[in-house]
Amino acid sequence: MAVHKILKHDSSPIAEAYRKVRTNLQFMNLDKNLKKVLLTSVGPSEGKSSVTGNLGLSLAGAGHKVLIVDCDFRKPKQHRLFGLSNIVGAMEVLLGEEAVHEVIQETEEENLHVLTTGQKPPNPSEVLGSKRFVEMIREIEGEYDFILFDTPPVGMVTDAAVLSRMTDGAILVAAVGQEDVRNLEYAKMQLEDIGVKILGVILNKVPLDEGGYYGYIYNHYYYGEKVKSRRRRGND
Ligand SMILES: Nc1ncnc2c1ncn2[C@@H]1O[C@H](COP(=O)(O)OP(=O)(O)O)[C@@H](O)[C@H]1O
Ligand SMILES: [Mg+2]
Repeated sequence: MAVHKILKHDSSPIAEAYRKVRTNLQFMNLDKNLKKVLLTSVGPSEGKSSVTGNLGLSLAGAGHKVLIVDCDFRKPKQHRLFGLSNIVGAMEVLLGEEAVHEVIQETEEENLHVLTTGQKPPNPSEVLGSKRFVEMIREIEGEYDFILFDTPPVGMVTDAAVLSRMTDGAILVAAVGQEDVRNLEYAKMQLEDIGVKILGVILNKVPLDEGGYYGYIYNHYYYGEKVKSRRRRGND
């Protein structure tokens, strides 16, 4: 699928940009206390799902054991990105119908697993905030070096707030031209206010000037001082 194709071109600027993000995450994870990473954004369609998929591939390609958890119960996407089925997934585990190990799926990339959403719940936000969801992640987190959470496009703060209870940090995905820098700053502040550690921002959909070719590159920057003052959250 698309996410694979992008990163198989190893010398592409896109793959290179992902390598940079990967290196930053690896650097921040030296002590293995930055495992669960949330990818979120201010608006819809900024590229959370695509970035999550590609970042997962990039990390797995470097030998890390990675799990992508699709938390967008309203509009799940990871199964489509990786060509997987979504007949059973997290919801069936939460409902007690399946064991989590039974529904986690392998991808073409060794080391990269995906936990799809499964059936659509009537109350997505409550699912994310449920104790059972947190327990499900606890049950499997020991088996992975990184767990990436792909989040829903709407109600960012609510969903991020509930998810922050079980993550070590968040990456904000912002589409160039789609996102006002002030909104981004505001989102960052709001997330920090509710205790989410912002690891950095990935600027998505940056045009490349390659002969008008439809292309994009992922840039990013990190808040250096935040990295230094990183503390282990008391939730794991
Ligand atoms: N860097 C990019 N350049 C061009 N299109 C992109 C880029 N990243 C994502 N897209 C496209 O934008 C749309 C939304 O992406 P998606 O990853 O589903 O966003 P989100 O999960 O934030 O809603 C999709 O059609 C996707 O293919
Ligand atoms: Mg999405």
